[in-house]
Amino acid sequence: MALLWGGGSPRSQASVASPLRVPSPLRVSYVNGQPTPKKTIAYNGHGGVVRVRSPARGTSRPPIVSVAAVASSEHTARVVDTITKLLKGRDILKKTVVQCFKRADPGTGSLSLQDLKQFRDYLSQVIGVPLEAFGDLVNTYLCFDFDGNGFMEVNEAYKLVKFHLCEYRKKLGGKEGPVDLPSTTLQEAGFEVIEELGRGNQGVVHLVTTSDGEQVCIKSLQKAQMTASGIEELQEEFQTLRNLDCGQVAKVFQLFQDAQHYYMVLEPYFGGDFTTLLSRARMQGVMKSERWLQGLFRQCFDALAFLHQQAIMHCDIKEPNIMLKTTDFHNPHVVLIDFGVCRAMAAKPNGMPSGTLGYMPPETLSNFKWFPRGDIFSMGVVIMQVLTDKIPPSGPRTVTTPGGIFIEGCATMKEIIQATKTRAPPFHLMPAGVPGLTQLLRAVLAKAMQQRPTAPQVLKDAWFYEVPDLPSEPTRTKSEWATIGITKSFLARPSVMGEDLPPAIAALQEIHAM
Ligand SMILES: Nc1ncnc2c1ncn2[C@@H]1O[C@H](COP(=O)(O)OP(=O)(O)O)[C@@H](O)[C@H]1O
Ligand SMILES: [Mg+2]
Repeated sequence: MALLWGGGSPRSQASVASPLRVPSPLRVSYVNGQPTPKKTIAYNGHGGVVRVRSPARGTSRPPIVSVAAVASSEHTARVVDTITKLLKGRDILKKTVVQCFKRADPGTGSLSLQDLKQFRDYLSQVIGVPLEAFGDLVNTYLCFDFDGNGFMEVNEAYKLVKFHLCEYRKKLGGKEGPVDLPSTTLQEAGFEVIEELGRGNQGVVHLVTTSDGEQVCIKSLQKAQMTASGIEELQEEFQTLRNLDCGQVAKVFQLFQDAQHYYMVLEPYFGGDFTTLLSRARMQGVMKSERWLQGLFRQCFDALAFLHQQAIMHCDIKEPNIMLKTTDFHNPHVVLIDFGVCRAMAAKPNGMPSGTLGYMPPETLSNFKWFPRGDIFSMGVVIMQVLTDKIPPSGPRTVTTPGGIFIEGCATMKEIIQATKTRAPPFHLMPAGVPGLTQLLRAVLAKAMQQRPTAPQVLKDAWFYEVPDLPSEPTRTKSEWATIGITKSFLARPSVMGEDLPPAIAALQEIHAM
């Protein structure tokens, strides 16, 4: 069962927090309270359109024009225009964020909640976008604290700003920028379809040959099913993934479009996904030893640690989205596919967060937002389901369909939500030979988000850490520019270093002149 929901938020990057500063409070009052699944938290667009009625012929009555309304409409249009330009010229946005960040930074390279308020005030002043655009900071703070250290580093702050500017533009009724992608059909591009490899909730994936006779995968996404902001995020996500060099994250090569579809060209993987992992391994005579599991699951968390470090959340970790690169099950090579970041960042009209019920963590079900530790919870669900033989079968299900630690026995969406929030995972069904893993899963599946470890903390757990020479590819980026956020090399650029606010204002004047 794949009950798809839509909407959440983004985050990133690690730094050492000053020991003198106190992390943000664990107790958080959410603006949206405890919504029910029906509650809509999406913004309503207000176009700010002012109608000017012409005087009727032969009458001397003046037109009904509210000066205040015209002024406010002009102001709205200006704000929308500024946001659009800022989001288009990301370099300028990054510079401005860095300038304001430096002003608010007490010297530790990261911001406390109080510093973040300062940062927001500076930024709002400089770019002329009202404070309300940045939402409820306490809640936002947790969303964007990717490394879970309780402070906001510059890349996290950048992500926070970008996300809120997109949302605010939507709220004001502004349109996203045009999508600038190469336009060609599959045939024109020289691709020949060999077979369908799979389909999910968003797209169909085919194995194809290129004009050079190479095999690649193409994921087709129907334009009609995508929002414009989703496409902007898809583009940016594509650029990030294209430059990343992490062995555990799907590689992408190209993004293009024809009249009806967006196409993403991907590296093909032949080991199937986690739904068939153990049966395929068994067929190859692979023993499900503790060491084999350690190697396998460490790669899963490595991938999450890497993504979170790049300020990307997956938001749809489940068995069909974790694949094995090759059919060599003796040396399994894990790859995460299907990045949900665009879905996670673009709130759907009904305000529902994206993700799959049964894997979504309790806090996302309560607050309609994803937080980085949500991916950790979902990975915990996957590991537990793999090891207790509870992977839910695909297709429609009834209350007697087996599988799914939080969906088994549930008849309605409400019951699944309740089960996720309150049902204890079946730890007693875990294989007896992996007590260290069972112990770790207790933390990974903690109902309270703050009690869950971050990905780097999981990797430091004794169950992984104390295994000598565990084979796993190191995760690294091809280039610092790979990240969609603010990189060390960006910070080191002469145009950024040592500047104070005036250059940021100059940069903004530059965009106003564009
Ligand atoms: N690179 C790939 N190589 C081989 N199979 C793939 C690849 N990417 C996706 N698939 C198959 O296609 C299915 C759907 O792809 P996915 O990216 O998850 O789409 P959706 O967003 O629609 O869920 C996957 O579950 C997997 O079985
Ligand atoms: Mg999928």
